[in-house]
Amino acid sequence: MTDRKVALVFGASGIIGRGFLRHLDGLNDWDIIGVMRNPPNFDTRAEHLAVDLTNRDECLAGLNNVPHVTHAFYTAYKDFPTWEAAAEPNTEMFKNTMDGLLANAPNLEHIQILQGAKYYGRHLGPYKTPSREDDPRHMPPSLYFGQEDYLREIQSGQPWSWSAVRPQAVCGLSIGNPLNLTSVLAVYAVISRELGLPLRWPGKPEAFHTIYQVTDYEILGKSMVWAATTPDCANEAFNITNGDVFRWDYMWEHVAGYFGMEVGPPQQINLAMMMADKEPLWNEIVEKFDLAPTPFDKAANWSFGDYAFASDWDVCMDTTKSRKAGFLDFIDTKDMFLQQFDELRDAKIIP
Ligand SMILES: NC(=O)c1ccc[n+]([C@@H]2O[C@H](COP(=O)([O-])OP(=O)(O)OC[C@H]3O[C@@H](n4cnc5c(N)ncnc54)[C@H](OP(=O)(O)O)[C@@H]3O)[C@@H](O)[C@H]2O)c1
Repeated sequence: MTDRKVALVFGASGIIGRGFLRHLDGLNDWDIIGVMRNPPNFDTRAEHLAVDLTNRDECLAGLNNVPHVTHAFYTAYKDFPTWEAAAEPNTEMFKNTMDGLLANAPNLEHIQILQGAKYYGRHLGPYKTPSREDDPRHMPPSLYFGQEDYLREIQSGQPWSWSAVRPQAVCGLSIGNPLNLTSVLAVYAVISRELGLPLRWPGKPEAFHTIYQVTDYEILGKSMVWAATTPDCANEAFNITNGDVFRWDYMWEHVAGYFGMEVGPPQQINLAMMMADKEPLWNEIVEKFDLAPTPFDKAANWSFGDYAFASDWDVCMDTTKSRKAGFLDFIDTKDMFLQQFDELRDAKIIP
């Protein structure tokens, strides 16, 4: 065991990876290496390592400079048109990464993977809630199953341990990474307000009233370090959320209140379709309020909003296991959204 910990973060430019780098940046006892194909376009003290993880030879050669790494965090993800199509290539990318890492990191103590509510089939339709870590898997394929099975296989008999962290809809300030609900809510509200509209729920009518959960990126960052460094967490998976559940009909009033808007009756629209012509309006808003020039396609991901607002079934994970094991951090999700809207304002992304 070395005193100083060295984190190797794969997928460090992604929503989760970048939020995690931000968290590690504040921890004095960690050195950080971020694996990103391009140099970071954000402030971080992480060392940058460029490796294409789909390229097996590049993984074996490119990771040859990491003998001091103690903890590896795998947050890389390659997107495909469907979740099912993503399973096999993402499992292969993970295998390349692990084979390159294990050939080069003799001081390794821990490997952590990221999973989520899709582990329980949240994306397939109604499923058993609250989901617990030991619930039976859904019908494969899933990249979560492929990666976890490979990790279990290679860990057998090794001195290092693994953990899996399962957040739901990670929310945070991620400029340039618009795939998160905070950005979708904020930009949708600002555009509606500029058009003189009330804040209407744009999702499926029933989804306004079902149970939902999200995970704040600060809570997630803390939980990742906790699970990677707590001996009792070795070789275990943990659901990680804000610790509360909510219904959008409750949250909507607070979102509208923040932006000084009235709540209108729900009206389902396809955000990706309806926002397709709003780029000129967004550019006018940027100019009118002297905002940082954020391109419209980097301000919010509307397809993600359509996906998240379409769950007319409960989405809910049980977090008893992580609490029993000692992770007690929580945040009121209403406070989280309002704080993150403030952060977007401070960064001059929204007026
Ligand atoms: N976001 C959520 O709310 C959430 C919730 C639960 C679980 N998860 C899981 O967490 C994992 C990460 O999700 P995310 O939302 O953070 O993903 P993301 O924002 O799409 O980030 C993916 C990362 O992977 C990197 N990557 C992709 N292809 C690569 C390649 N060939 N070589 C090297 N790096 C590559 C990307 O780097 P480039 O910049 O080079 O493309 C990026 O840094 C996924 O398994 C996801 O299912 C996410």
